Amino acid sequence: MRSYLVAGNWKMNGSRAANAALLRGLRDGFTGSPGVEMLVCPPFPYLADVARELEGSAIRLGAQNVSQHESGAFTGECSAAMLSDVGCSYVIVGHSERRALMGETSEDVAAKFVAALSGGLRPILCVGESLDEREAGHTEAVIDEQLDAVLQAAGVSTFAEAVVAYEPVWAIGTGKSASPQQAEDVHAHIRARVAGHDRQVADKLQILYGGSVKGDNAAGLFSKGDIDGGLIGGASLKADDFLAIATAAMAQD
Ligand code: 13P
Repeated sequence: MRSYLVAGNWKMNGSRAANAALLRGLRDGFTGSPGVEMLVCPPFPYLADVARELEGSAIRLGAQNVSQHESGAFTGECSAAMLSDVGCSYVIVGHSERRALMGETSEDVAAKFVAALSGGLRPILCVGESLDEREAGHTEAVIDEQLDAVLQAAGVSTFAEAVVAYEPVWAIGTGKSASPQQAEDVHAHIRARVAGHDRQVADKLQILYGGSVKGDNAAGLFSKGDIDGGLIGGASLKADDFLAIATAAMAQD
């Protein structure tokens, strides 16, 4: 049986009231599935609250970013151990918004990936090309650079504890998802790149697709052999939309 991960990246959205309503809907609608794991990644200030609300549910908690440092004089930062401490089991690293807007390099992302694992978190490593890069025929080269930095710093064996998310920048928040075949081509490339280091790790690696995933396009994406779930932005903020995506994953079993 395949194992899917349906992960919601709330980005900088939410409020206590909105989160409570969303989580109520998700808890009622998703009671667990052997082949599908559901994850929500709220902003930092809400993590502890959300952890409490998720107690006893089948929904896991993750964060959107982590410091590469363990502790100390890093004002405004948050360590992997702190995130574990409040109930996170996952953390997103290298989201394209952080690479583009906060200037995170592939080396920074690799350091965060290593820090996440040391702190007991499963990193979700985001990779993806911009529209210009795709149109110039550089998609695979961009992905390789982002992936190789982490493979080199962390070693392929750590990918047994990690997830990769392919998020083409041109598909994020645009309503213009990659087609199932476009996504599958890149996912297969990512798996082959990891297999070049260790085939067993590559075969088991969950590779999520992110970029305008909705209830009505999820089934087509998830039917592809190398697409093991989704990293979902906008549609993860509405319980019905997110549940429809989880249902599409459950229907693949
Ligand atoms: P959208 O689903 O809103 O396109 O966002 C995708 C994303 O960036 C998830 O990390």
